Amino acid sequence: MGFETILTDTRGRVLLVTLNRPQALNAINRQLATEVIEAVTRADTDPGIGCIVLTGSPRAFAAGADIKEMQAATYAEMYGGDHFAAWDRFIAVRTPILAAVAGYALGGGCELAMMCDVILAADTAMFGQPEIKLGVMPGMGGSQRLARFVGKAKAMEMCLTGRMMDAGEAERAGLVSRVIPADQLLDEALKTAETIASMSLPIAMMTKEAVNRAYETTLTEGVRFERRVFHAMFATEDQKEGMAAFVEKRPPRFSHR
Ligand code: HXC
Repeated sequence: MGFETILTDTRGRVLLVTLNRPQALNAINRQLATEVIEAVTRADTDPGIGCIVLTGSPRAFAAGADIKEMQAATYAEMYGGDHFAAWDRFIAVRTPILAAVAGYALGGGCELAMMCDVILAADTAMFGQPEIKLGVMPGMGGSQRLARFVGKAKAMEMCLTGRMMDAGEAERAGLVSRVIPADQLLDEALKTAETIASMSLPIAMMTKEAVNRAYETTLTEGVRFERRVFHAMFATEDQKEGMAAFVEKRPPRFSHR
């Protein structure tokens, strides 16, 4: 399938997905959502891809769900079509996904970044959930993920006032892992993605699943889950290779099995 609202580029074991609706600051309409979900789910079944980078433009990662497309929708249409439910397929992707955010990440754009596994922010990044100004609230997980990532006080303030957070505040609050000068963002994101993609893919997938479990369960259950997955790793060839490489003082050659 050819894409019209995103660009895709495979660089070694990394898939770069660039949101590309510049005329609308990458607002997420149905087509863009369908294409992003298709691109990442397709990559997830490709053992040649070990990490996905999702990025936008220097001006906007994404300025939210497409307001013009949603404006006239009725309750019956939103509920009947279970609007936004397709993002469950994005969440189910097991390959690590890194968001490289420059400029606006607002509403659905902030929510999309939060659905990724790591957020790297340019020093120009602005995060916000301004839906309340439109007479709605976050609908792609923002009220839940923002509260978990930055805590209740900031999440509540941002969702109730629509105030934006700059990159520095987002890093201090724990929303992003690092802030990078804007002109180095993509290089740094690709470098980080290459590092992730150089690891054993099944081990990286299990690690992603284990960290995500921390947001779904109690500490006792999460630690138990981690221990069982850790045991299972000893059934992989890559555990044998990784530990042998250390002992033999050479780089590992993972077979992703
Ligand atoms: C549709 C959008 C858009 C959006 C920007 N555009 N955001 N179109 N949906 N979310 C369009 C503008 O209409 C304009 O088109 C063009 O992109 C450039 O935007 P400007 O506003 O002219 O740019 P600027 O003055 O630089 O302001 C940038 C901005 C502003 C601060 C990001 O565009 C803005 O506030 N956008 C909306 C942000 C927002 O409310 N997001 C949440 C959406 S609701 P034209 O044709 O005029 O050039 C949401 C819900 C999530 O995400 C899920 C649950 C419902």
